[in-house]
Amino acid sequence: MYHERGLVKVVIDAELCQGHGRCFTMAPDLFSFDDLGSGVVIGDGTLNDETVALARLAQLNCPEHAISIEE
Ligand code: F3S
Repeated sequence: MYHERGLVKVVIDAELCQGHGRCFTMAPDLFSFDDLGSGVVIGDGTLNDETVALARLAQLNCPEHAISIEE
């Protein structure tokens, strides 16, 4: 269980994001986009056992490697 190891959060590095949009297309419950079309994390990015898999999928699919998961 992830929460037993402490909080897990997903973050997008705004410097790296080029607006490819795979994150908010694949996981619209976790990610959205701003006025410029850059990906943003919805809320504070805290993940649970269900959403961590989606976040990892988005992380793997971001062409700019802008998504990271912090434990
Ligand atoms: Fe940006 Fe990667 Fe999403 S480039 S919009 S964080 S897929």
